[in-house]
Amino acid sequence: VYQTPESVPQGDLPDCAIAVDVLRATTTIATALDAGAEAIQAFSDLDALMEASLHWEAPKRIRIGERGGKKVAGFDLGNSPIDCCPERVQGKRIFMSTTNGTRALASIQNAPTVITAAFLNRARVVQHLLETQPSTVWIVGSGWEGAFSLEDTTCAGAIALHVIEKLQVPLESCAGNDETFAAIALYQQYDQDLLCMAKRSSHGQRMLGLNLLPDIEYCMKQDTLNVLPMQSEPGVLVRA
Ligand code: MLT
Repeated sequence: VYQTPESVPQGDLPDCAIAVDVLRATTTIATALDAGAEAIQAFSDLDALMEASLHWEAPKRIRIGERGGKKVAGFDLGNSPIDCCPERVQGKRIFMSTTNGTRALASIQNAPTVITAAFLNRARVVQHLLETQPSTVWIVGSGWEGAFSLEDTTCAGAIALHVIEKLQVPLESCAGNDETFAAIALYQQYDQDLLCMAKRSSHGQRMLGLNLLPDIEYCMKQDTLNVLPMQSEPGVLVRA
């Protein structure tokens, strides 16, 4: 587990890399693909997004842009997963840029397999890991502008613990960096009340200030979507 994209080791790659931005980018990605979006193309940079999206027919594209939790002016949507209903996104290509989540994806995009995870597709991500058995896995939290985020590391712990439980191996005999065991301990602390954890987190506080409690509640649901977002080419995610 790496808590931020900045802490990912340079010059090294795992077999499988997982980006996590529970509040809200990877929750929105899972929701949009589950609702039938054709693909999600992620950009760290807003200008690059505008340039690439111009090559796509207007009725078939949606621009999602968020900075500091707020919708970017001129974009179709902010980053609310609740907006990504089938009526709006089915068959469309989503061009997305968010404060941290798209940067986390960019930091791992050269790994042979790149997937995204949130609480609501955790079980599907775990199923993929058990089926494919990669020998090295990175779970990379998006954090907030280089700083630790409680909700992403808790979700990383939820994935790691669920894999360990399914494999029926004792925690003491598992390999992982210190962050992995810290993440598992965080999840064990909060698994019965993820909403309380999210409301305490700094981004949760920021979102509450923007009247986004319904988004926080949605993002804290566990194992509700059977969708696996997987990178098909650098920066492009499709339903696996
Ligand atoms: C991010 O990428 O930082 C987020 O997903 C922020 C948000 O949309 O609330």
